[in-house]
Amino acid sequence: MRQVVSPAKAIHGVVSLPGDKSISHRYAMLASIAEGPSTIANYSTGADCQSTLNCMAALGASVERDAQNRVLIHGGALREPVAQLDAGNSGSTIRMLSGILAAQPFTSSIAGDESLARRPMARIIKPLTEMGASIEAREGTYPPLVICGRPLHGIDYSLPVASAQVKSCVLLAGIFAEGDTIVREPVRTRDHTEIALKEFGADIVSAKRVITLRAGARLQGRELFVPGDLSSACFFLVAALLMPDSELVIQGVGLNPTRSALLDYLVGLGASIKVLDVRQTAGELIGDLRVRASRIHRGSIDGPLTAALIDEIPALAVLGAATAGLTVRDASELRVKETDRIATLESNFKRMGVAMEVTADGFHLSGGQKFHAAELDSCGDHRIAMAFSVAALAADGPCSIDGAESAGVSFPGFFDTLREIAQ
Ligand code: S3P
Repeated sequence: MRQVVSPAKAIHGVVSLPGDKSISHRYAMLASIAEGPSTIANYSTGADCQSTLNCMAALGASVERDAQNRVLIHGGALREPVAQLDAGNSGSTIRMLSGILAAQPFTSSIAGDESLARRPMARIIKPLTEMGASIEAREGTYPPLVICGRPLHGIDYSLPVASAQVKSCVLLAGIFAEGDTIVREPVRTRDHTEIALKEFGADIVSAKRVITLRAGARLQGRELFVPGDLSSACFFLVAALLMPDSELVIQGVGLNPTRSALLDYLVGLGASIKVLDVRQTAGELIGDLRVRASRIHRGSIDGPLTAALIDEIPALAVLGAATAGLTVRDASELRVKETDRIATLESNFKRMGVAMEVTADGFHLSGGQKFHAAELDSCGDHRIAMAFSVAALAADGPCSIDGAESAGVSFPGFFDTLREIAQ
């Protein structure tokens, strides 16, 4: 689908966003293996989280979605699926679910779309194999994965890459393992799995990037609410910061400290962002944000900050090029996301006449660059579609975005919301 986005003068309004994608995946998986019923309100409407629900239903969980967008799951023992599981575009689904599948008393196969077929899985195969699993993959790393479930034992695993998906995969396998499971992180990554496991009744402690899950967890179903997705909010934060005279309120956004480095980063660059009201739900912080157009300084993202902002870098690149510039380092993980995001950022910026200097693990954008009207291409990547829609608001004429439907992977109503708030 080709979407046309016209330049805007300002961003105004009050919006609520779909439930957080990361939290939705975790709640759905844990509810499916917990005993008894769970209710998950504000479950992400994105296609990725639907892929997780489809997989859990194919594994025997009872899954229903009601008209209020609540997901009702009755979990318990999983059963052998009759067909290959389809993770769609979702790296979180295939990587985290593999941890559960590795411990089941059956064999399963899981694959996804063309983009997923190019994403590396060796990072989960290695620790799961150490735990006693047997997994086959194309060229030893690419989906489809054939997972022959086995009794697992806990391990003490130091993550070679900063990855919440890998950490979560090992912890989910650890639920079924004999003995404790310990995961050591090189830098802190999002901790939704740890928080959710505790909420479902597991005995889990984290201190100084070492997470210990005690063996013998018995998970119980729960009533849960998913906060709005801060990574989706980021596109609108950037739009409002860029357009003069903008003021936007985003209600009910997840503010987990392992995700909210985004807000500290933006405020550090001069952004006027106020957190209006903070509450807690099932161990997760949630609050409303008010953002106003601001004068933004030069940005620099490297080291642990890169891992903390990894999903937001496409939007922050747009902000940097339009304002005072941005340098990103230590971001080789960007090359193995839904697309090689360094390459897809570069190619779309080039179409808009924006110069981007690429390095092996990052890039540099000088500031104050003019965005020219252009034909853009999401390359099937939701965050590229949304980032360049925001760039289009700041362009000197209407831009078209091919493959715009990919925004639906995390945010199906993105273009409607953008139209509502852009003036
Ligand atoms: C996610 C972790 C991150 C992130 C992805 C979602 C998660 O991936 O980029 O969008 O929900 O755990 P990595 O674990 O590969 O860094």
